[in-house]
Amino acid sequence: MNRVWTPILSPLIWDLGHIANFEELWLVQTVGGRDPLRGDLGRLYDAIENPRSTRGELPILRGDDLRSYLDEVRERTLEVLDEVELEDPDDPLLREGFVYEMLIAHEHQHNETMLQLIQMVDGYEPIRREPVDTYPAPAAEPAGGGGDMCLVAGGEVEIGAGPGGFAYDNERPRHTVRLAPFWIDRTPVTNAAWADFVAATGGEAPMYWQSDGGDWWVHTAMGRNEPLDPDLPVVHVSWHAADAFARWAGKRLPTELEWEAAARGADRDRANLDQLAFGCAPAGSYADAASDWGAVQMLGDVWEWTASDFVAYPGFRAFPYPEYSEAFFGDRFKVLRGGAWATRRNVIRVSFRNWDLPERRQIFSGLRCARDAD
Ligand SMILES: [Fe+2]
Repeated sequence: MNRVWTPILSPLIWDLGHIANFEELWLVQTVGGRDPLRGDLGRLYDAIENPRSTRGELPILRGDDLRSYLDEVRERTLEVLDEVELEDPDDPLLREGFVYEMLIAHEHQHNETMLQLIQMVDGYEPIRREPVDTYPAPAAEPAGGGGDMCLVAGGEVEIGAGPGGFAYDNERPRHTVRLAPFWIDRTPVTNAAWADFVAATGGEAPMYWQSDGGDWWVHTAMGRNEPLDPDLPVVHVSWHAADAFARWAGKRLPTELEWEAAARGADRDRANLDQLAFGCAPAGSYADAASDWGAVQMLGDVWEWTASDFVAYPGFRAFPYPEYSEAFFGDRFKVLRGGAWATRRNVIRVSFRNWDLPERRQIFSGLRCARDAD
């Protein structure tokens, strides 16, 4: 809980305190009009002021002190929820319950970040690795991960979240783009295909792959040594390696606009999400829940790198605070789409945009390729 495992992730206790502090800031202080519970504690949990590499040094809450802070915040939150008008159409923060949706999404997004770190912990035993009843199991037989592609017609395509319902500022406004027709892989790229790429080019092996001493690989996340399953989507690859793979395959990464067009019709209730399976489903699973264009697993299993930089849509307006998206716009970050098995279900949408540095691979990142239709 307290240990710094890597400069690119926070110690788990920082995430926990930050989740509670974010809830205190938005619900207890902003909505409830209360004073801060612990003076200027919030400064230590400000994600922009405190880069991940410095969080292990901060005098943050630990142990019982942290636990009682979590309890106090939740208690105050419930008090506030009892007394406020939940929805107010004239207040953008309360319209359609925006602030509550934001709080839940924030906590759930940190669940995934914490799982990135847990994968680095030797011998960590997840509580449950078998699918539970509520896990929407894939169709019994995966329909193959064999590299076939789906044609997407292009033309005028609506991109982004519409005006109703919860979405982050960076998904808005919805706007129309013109796309040329293109092909997109029907499934995410598999471990088998990635192993061929490494063998042929000396390309980068994903994080958590180790040679088995022969011509195959073992999977080493959480200190395990399990033979790598060739049929699963490849995960934990950097953008640079994903881009190199796509070129080697005679293809390219899709732009995020192409990705969103190809994903139209995908259903998050029929996808491997929410940390329930605790790993990927074979490529080609959920064949009965394809997108309108026939692509499967667009949502869930692995985040998919796109060719696109994280930039504002035309007419973008920061809401409710510029540090969520606007501070990251530019050419430093690449966009990932679709969510992974580690993503909580309510977080993901076809319009949801994730972003990260192109060298990162502790995230649950994979890819599928595209090609111009000619
Ligand atoms: Fe956060």
